[in-house]
Amino acid sequence: MSPITTQRHGDILIVTSNNPPVNALGHAVREGLVKAIDEADADETVKAVVIVCEGNTFFAGADVSEFGTPKAFEPPMLPQVVDRIEACAKPVVAAIHGTALGGGLEVALACHYRVAVPSAKLGTPEVKLGIIPGAGGTQRLPRLVGVPKALEMVATGNPIGAKEAHGLGLVDRLIEGDLEQHAVAFAEEVRDVRPIPKSSERDDKLAEARANPALFDEFRKANAKKFRGFDAPEATIKAVQAAVAKPYAEGVLEERRLFMELMTGTQARAQQYFFFAERKASKIEGLPEDTKPRDIRRVGVIGAGTMGGGISMNFLSAGIPVTIVEMEQAALDRGTGIMRRNYEATASKGKMTADQVEGAMGLLNPTLDFDALADCDLIIEAVFENMDVKKDVFTRLDKIAKPGAILASNTSYLNIDEIAAVTSRPEDVLGLHFFSPANIMKLLEIVRGARTAPDVLVTAMQLAKKIRKVAVVAGVCYGFIGNRMLIPRQMQAMQLLLEGATPEQVDKVHVEFGMPMGPFQMADLAGVDIGWHRDPTRIENIRDKLCAMERWGQKKGAGFYDYDDKRRPSPSPVVAEVIEEFRQKVGVEKRDITDQEIMERTIYTMVNEGAKILEEGMAQRASDIDVVWVYGYGWPVYRGGPMFWADTVGLKEIVAGLERQQDRLGKDFTLSRLLTDKAAAGEKLTR
Ligand code: 3HC
Ligand code: NAI
Repeated sequence: MSPITTQRHGDILIVTSNNPPVNALGHAVREGLVKAIDEADADETVKAVVIVCEGNTFFAGADVSEFGTPKAFEPPMLPQVVDRIEACAKPVVAAIHGTALGGGLEVALACHYRVAVPSAKLGTPEVKLGIIPGAGGTQRLPRLVGVPKALEMVATGNPIGAKEAHGLGLVDRLIEGDLEQHAVAFAEEVRDVRPIPKSSERDDKLAEARANPALFDEFRKANAKKFRGFDAPEATIKAVQAAVAKPYAEGVLEERRLFMELMTGTQARAQQYFFFAERKASKIEGLPEDTKPRDIRRVGVIGAGTMGGGISMNFLSAGIPVTIVEMEQAALDRGTGIMRRNYEATASKGKMTADQVEGAMGLLNPTLDFDALADCDLIIEAVFENMDVKKDVFTRLDKIAKPGAILASNTSYLNIDEIAAVTSRPEDVLGLHFFSPANIMKLLEIVRGARTAPDVLVTAMQLAKKIRKVAVVAGVCYGFIGNRMLIPRQMQAMQLLLEGATPEQVDKVHVEFGMPMGPFQMADLAGVDIGWHRDPTRIENIRDKLCAMERWGQKKGAGFYDYDDKRRPSPSPVVAEVIEEFRQKVGVEKRDITDQEIMERTIYTMVNEGAKILEEGMAQRASDIDVVWVYGYGWPVYRGGPMFWADTVGLKEIVAGLERQQDRLGKDFTLSRLLTDKAAAGEKLTR
């Protein structure tokens, strides 16, 4: 049965799409839409058409799962569908709820009128999939909302709300109450208006940009940092430029050319792969299907340090009350003070109201009384990274937490099973590893202990969604997924300094690759002293020496780099001396190091560690590892993630690179069996 059905309401033909879950514009939908418009044109008694969707949303775009398959090219393709709609001899009204995204918005733009409920969102997220709108979106949108707004929408991919769209003229009327009924009434009002307004024929809103073509370069400049490395944003700009410089018919051809060029490229493949990777990550394997989550009404957090405060904010922002416990009043006051200041900073940017700040802080119960955790349904420990301290905390928790409460540790490296073993309820224990700053970073590693109960995992996954995190399940191993893969990278980066590379050179390779920063910039930001033994007389390596010199990174104005008072880094002669001193001590000969060697020793080794994580079953799937790296460490999404990227380089080449470096990788380095097997078989990690 076609997902598109038609029905009459007086003179109006109502065209309804029912293609769950998001009314994606797959082949059957496209075909159904064209038939429906043909039906409207063929029937004299039809005076206007309303297109409306059932379920949660208006068309959320092209069917991404068809991309790369013959179905995507089966006529009618979307450009033909939208042209057919616009060419309809009767007025067509799009009735929008949920999200009109990508091809969905393009359908709406081709309609002669658009009405929407106030909660609807409209946007062109194609850039996030590595492509640009491909069905006239870049040509029609600027004609309706003007070039500056259209540029912002297509190049960033961020949607706008219906109210803003109404103000811009993108939505003709906001509908309160029953959408279909009011859309039909609207269609009756406009049924006889002639000429029928067609967005492709307008050009009044292009005048501003025609008078000031420099605005494109200004836009490029203003967003250069955000768009660095991505191909699609520049293509969206070029397409909108064509809308301004050329007649509609030619502009559409230019859009099509740019669209096809991107569609066949690696970035689009990577970003579309990642779209599905992110959604797959929330599926936990090996759980009974009917597992029900536990109810979480109040959360407890132990420790109001760097992590405890940020973790608490996630729940407060989602309206969940938090009890936060500290050892000393001063630490408690410091922690809650930072939380309040963070909220106030958000409010000063207009992203929160003063009432919302008070509302969130009003849900917080700061206390020194450990027993106050007794009524919490989930308690997250974020105290010092020390097994004895954690065991002590969990022993105490076991005595006071109510039955069924979930007990979580935010540990970065420690063994969750060992922590669970000090309690009488290891089935209620798991790791919830947030990333710093915990109120901002989207990633959450859910660490599944040997005995963690299914409903505990399901609860954690559901809660992650509620606090807008992307969660990935990891097994118990040192550093879980993300930090474990950092270890070989960090070790090799340090070793490369001894052999002749500079911190700047190593970092440059990572930044040019697309990472937000390199290993040494990251160390300076996070704190060179993190995990340091804190004995200034014990100096065994470069890092010990920098720590002993209090070169702890940005917070001290010095680390692997020197910093000026505006925190701008410059290469440090002191660090160069320290490196030289150790080079002589260890007796390593200085040589020229190529960028390729840096890649092989820091990035290929990470891939190798990822493959080990996979072969040990510490990640459920290769794509989960990629989600960790994109959301936890800023791996460039246009390279998909370390596993996807390795597949694009070719596993044979990755193995060959590691073998080239084998002698330099240290005696503890071993190649992943999974990696070598897959390379030999010509297989991929992500399949
Ligand atoms: N194609 C195919 N499947 C899609 C899809 C799409 N465009 N959008 C969502 N889905 C699937 C998801 O994979 C998921 O499947 P699953 O249940 O099997 O995992 C399911 O629909 C539900 O999706 P979400 O979990 O994301 O549901 P939410 O309610 O959280 O979000 C949404 C809904 C806001 C619509 C979100 O899914 C979304 O942003 N989708 C992508 C929209 C998009 O990028 N559209 C542009 C497509 S490209 C295009 O149109 C090209 C054109 O210009 C020619
Ligand atoms: P921190 O040192 O900033 O804060 C720890 C807080 O816990 C301190 O305020 C301390 O007073 C308090 N505390 C210690 N013992 C306590 C007890 N028995 N009862 C109540 N409060 C107690 O440490 P941070 O950085 O917040 O780290 C906490 C945990 O989070 C560690 O396990 C760490 O490995 C992990 N983590 C840290 C990340 C980071 O980037 N800082 C990232 C992810 C995880």
